[in-house]
Amino acid sequence: MSYDELYIKSAIRSIADWPEAGVIFRDVTTLFKDPKAMRMVCDAFVQRYMNQPITHIASIDARGFILGSVVAYQLNLPLILIRKKGKLPGDTISQDYSLEYGSAAIEIQTDALEPGAKVLVFDDLIATGGTVLAAISLIRKLGAEVHEVAALIDLPDLMGSQKIQDSNVPVYSLLAYE
Ligand code: PRP
Ligand code: ADE
Repeated sequence: MSYDELYIKSAIRSIADWPEAGVIFRDVTTLFKDPKAMRMVCDAFVQRYMNQPITHIASIDARGFILGSVVAYQLNLPLILIRKKGKLPGDTISQDYSLEYGSAAIEIQTDALEPGAKVLVFDDLIATGGTVLAAISLIRKLGAEVHEVAALIDLPDLMGSQKIQDSNVPVYSLLAYE
């Protein structure tokens, strides 16, 4: 491990009972305010993926955009946006899903990826895995392959990363909160 896990964790704020009772919200806005922590995170992802056969980075609305775009820039790879329903113009396909605190739908533009593309899916956090599994389903519907899922934070108790691996997609995260 070439990053300082404790330092990065110290830059992430935890807020109890938000957005609803029982949820401990892992707030990455404080990480984004800390350039040293942010650089450590982005450099760790860039190092991992710099020599892997990836053709695109797909980042998930909205916090996934921030990390995904820096890594795509550094790796000189095309960035694809997977957005909450109703935000993308043109032809789209949509997938409903549920998450730790509610339900939603995400979309991808039908011309975002060509069959055969090897996609790295990027989000800030995996909880129930609902969001990432919906993203994987959209990418596969376009005939592309998901190379791996990358996330800053995994909440393994919620079994999301396990479910993703059960669908034959590797998961890589920098931090786990039990
Ligand atoms: C959060 C987070 C992940 C998702 C993880 O997004 O950024 O995308 O929840 O939860 P899951 O594994 O249970 O699906 P949220 O929908 O709150 O949107 P935001 O990024 O726009 O804040
Ligand atoms: N998305 C789903 N669960 C979350 C949590 N506990 N903290 C931050 N984002 C989340």
